[in-house]
Amino acid sequence: MPKKPSNPNQWKPATLAVHGRGRLPKPYYAVSTPIVHTSNFYFDTAQEVEEFMRAKGEGRVIREHEYTRYGNPTQQECERKLAAIENAERAVLFSSGMAAVILVLMTYMKQGGHIIFTNDCYRQTRDFAKDFLTKFGMEVSLVDPTAEAIEKGIQPNTNIIFTESPTNPYLRVLDLPAIVKVAKAHKVLTVIDATLATPYNIRPLDMGVDIVIHSATKYLGGHNDLMAGVALGKHDLLTPTYRMQRMIGSTPGPLTCFLLERGLKTFAMRMDHHNRAGFEVARMLEAHPKVEKVWYPGLPSHPDHRIATEQMKGFGSMVSFLVRGDNAQTRRFIDALELFLITPSLGGSESLVTQMSTMSFFDYPEQYRKDIGMVDNLVRLALGLEDVEDLITDLKQALDTV
Ligand SMILES: Cc1ncc(COP(=O)(O)O)c(C=O)c1O
Repeated sequence: MPKKPSNPNQWKPATLAVHGRGRLPKPYYAVSTPIVHTSNFYFDTAQEVEEFMRAKGEGRVIREHEYTRYGNPTQQECERKLAAIENAERAVLFSSGMAAVILVLMTYMKQGGHIIFTNDCYRQTRDFAKDFLTKFGMEVSLVDPTAEAIEKGIQPNTNIIFTESPTNPYLRVLDLPAIVKVAKAHKVLTVIDATLATPYNIRPLDMGVDIVIHSATKYLGGHNDLMAGVALGKHDLLTPTYRMQRMIGSTPGPLTCFLLERGLKTFAMRMDHHNRAGFEVARMLEAHPKVEKVWYPGLPSHPDHRIATEQMKGFGSMVSFLVRGDNAQTRRFIDALELFLITPSLGGSESLVTQMSTMSFFDYPEQYRKDIGMVDNLVRLALGLEDVEDLITDLKQALDTV
C-alpha cells in the first residue's frame, strides 16, 4: 500500500497536480494511471451481484465500478486530482466543457425560474440560455459582467447566477465575494465558469461560490488534444448533476481521462509560463505604436485590474487587443504571424490567434457586432508554451506589416 501522507492539506498546486491528496494503490505497481478501456466490469457470482446491489441501495460502497457510463477507474483518478487542485469535495468529469455547463444548469433550473447570465459569457452558453432554456419556461437575463449589474438583475424568481471570470474576449474579472454576498442574501445558486483562470489563478469555491466549471479542453488538458469538462463543488450539490450525467452518458472516455490526468502533472509549471507569457506580451503590445488598445487584467489600464490583483494569483495567457488599422490590415497582421495558429480555443501548448469578428461572431448582424464591440480589428491571442521572447519577436514582425 502507498504511504499515507502526514499533511496533504498543506500541499501546493504543483504537488496536488502530481499526487492528488495522496497516492492510491495501482495495478501492477504502475507509476502512471492505467487506461482502463472497458465498458463494463464483471462479477464472479450471482451472490456478489446481489450484495453489490443491496449495498448500493443502502448507500454503502463495497466495490466501485460496474459500467463505464457510471464511472471508470481512469476517470475517477482524474476527478480525484481535479478536486484536490480546486480544493473541492467532489469533481464530476464530462465529455466537454459545454456538457458540464448544460448539465449543471439542467440540474438546477426550475420551471418559472430565472437565471442571470453575464453578457460576455461564452457564446454557446449564451445561445443555450436564449434558445433552449427559455423553451422550458425559464426566464433568462443577460447583464453586464459586474457584481452591481448582477445585483440589479435579481428578481423574486431568480434561482441561478451564472458567470465567467475572467470573461472572453475582454477578460472582465468579477468580484466573486460581492456576487456570493448578493446570491446568499437572495438564496440563489452561484455557478462560475472559471476556464480562463483555472484553479491555479483563482479559487472561486474558497470565496463561497457554489459550483465551479472548467472546460478541461483548455489549460487543464493543456495540449490542444482532448475535449473534457469538469464541475466541482460540495459533494451533495453535485450528486443530482452526477445522476443526470450517468443517465445521459456525457462522460469522457478512459483515454481522454488518461491524457487529462497526464496533462495535469505539468499543470502548475505550464500555468507559471502562461502567466508570464500573458503579462510580457500584454505589456509589449500596450507600448506598441501599431496597437490601439489592450485588454489584460494584469495591466493597470484594465477596468478590473484592482479586483484581478486581489482575487487572482496570475492573469493567464489570453490577451485581447485592437490593431491600429482596418480589417485588411488586421488580416495582414494575422497572416504574417509565424508561430500562431489561426483557430479558436486556448490553454494549449501551441499559441493561437483569432480575429473575433470573423470567428465566434461571424454570423451575427454587422450592427449587432459593432454594438457589442466586435470590431474587425479586435484580435485575441491565446499564448502557448513557446519561448516568450520568440512570441514577442513574432508579434513585432507581424505588427510591422500593418
Ligand atoms: C469559457 C468557456 N467555457 C466553456 C467552453 C466550452 O468548452 P468545450 O469546448 O470544452 O465544450 C469554452 C470553449 O471555448 C470556453 O471558452
